[in-house]
Amino acid sequence: MSDLDQLVATARADFDAAGNPAALEDAKAKYLGKAGRVTELLKGMAALSPEEKKSRGAQINVVKQQIESALTARRQALADAELQIQLKAEALDVTLPGRQAGLGGLHPVSRSLERIEAIFGSMGFDVADGPEIEEDWFNFTALNTPADHPARSMHDTFYVDTVAPDGGGHLLRTHTSPMQVRYAVQHVKKHKTLLDAGQAMPEIRVIAPGRTYRVDSDATHSPMFHQCEGLWIGENVSFKDLKSVFTDFFRTFFETEDLNLRFRPSFFPFTEPSAEVDIAFSSGPLKGRWLEVAGSGQVHPNVVRNFGLDPERYIGFAFGMGPDRLTMLRYGVNDLRLFFDGDLRFLSQFR
Ligand code: PHE
Repeated sequence: MSDLDQLVATARADFDAAGNPAALEDAKAKYLGKAGRVTELLKGMAALSPEEKKSRGAQINVVKQQIESALTARRQALADAELQIQLKAEALDVTLPGRQAGLGGLHPVSRSLERIEAIFGSMGFDVADGPEIEEDWFNFTALNTPADHPARSMHDTFYVDTVAPDGGGHLLRTHTSPMQVRYAVQHVKKHKTLLDAGQAMPEIRVIAPGRTYRVDSDATHSPMFHQCEGLWIGENVSFKDLKSVFTDFFRTFFETEDLNLRFRPSFFPFTEPSAEVDIAFSSGPLKGRWLEVAGSGQVHPNVVRNFGLDPERYIGFAFGMGPDRLTMLRYGVNDLRLFFDGDLRFLSQFR
């Protein structure tokens, strides 16, 4: 092998040994740089005759080209290898199953609330929303339950600030009944002109579902639970209407005609007379068992007066039912606390 061929071979070997672009540039300088081997060869021609220069020059040029193309090839090879590494690092396995957004679902109690709103909505009831931190006046006093009334102790709750003797102060509402007063007062305001003229006011027909609070906790009681208030006030609304509305409601809610309803005398300060509402299925696993599902009654004249209406002219009924209890019955759940533990194994069954 001639010295020139030897030089090309050494250059190739050096280039191949360069593991990265920086090393390759160093190797390049060794051959093609200012003090590189090829440059040296060219300088060495100075002493040659013109004839020799010609042939030697052509040979050196071939060597130079061979070294340059070896360099280009190695550059390309290094760049390709770099790209392969990068592609491998960023590899995307399109055959893997996709990442799915977790499928959520409505809480079973929310499902019940939606059903309740839809059914009462179809019977002409408005749906109202009210504050969970309630004024003492709306929660108790306006509902014929003054500060010294013994019924208050059955509604032990969470007080946000101290209740003043005049009934001021705030608490977490113990029932949705304060919404009776809030809604009726608004309704009366809206129809003030009619009322002042002694004309008949459009009936009040509303339900008010929402969260309520009491100091209570066991398998059938939770410190936070749901209620749905109902109020129907007009000039001619009676217990008969309450019974038919309720019967329709519960039969629709539970999707069965095999359901009966009874009123059991009871006491609430804001209704007179008052009754607990029980339902019983005449078929199915709960057949024949009376289950308490709501409190109800004819709105007390004092409360009608607090609405801003004349109790001699306006009469009607109110009820408060427990959507949690209805949900337990509908889905066969036997512990109320399951609804509020947030355990996905339980909740995902309702998706
Ligand atoms: N607010 C009552 C309770 O929580 C239920 C009720 C509402 C009773 C309306 C009569 C009328 O126990």
